[in-house]
Amino acid sequence: MKIKAAENGPYLIEVQEASVKRGDKEEKLAQKTIALCRCGHSANKPFCDGAHKKHGFTGEQAELDIS
Ligand code: FES
Repeated sequence: MKIKAAENGPYLIEVQEASVKRGDKEEKLAQKTIALCRCGHSANKPFCDGAHKKHGFTGEQAELDIS
């Protein structure tokens, strides 16, 4: 598995299939790349909603390989 941290943005995870569970509700995700918030300002956590741009979040690009 590879997790990327976008420069000044979210964590990006490529998946075959994924779902999110919030309380009692579980939702299947249609997208193949999931963007997770790392700035703390998203109104749709755990996902990135683009709020990092408005808040001027800065963070280095990084890539993590997990085998
Ligand atoms: S990283 Fe995008 S809203 Fe937090």
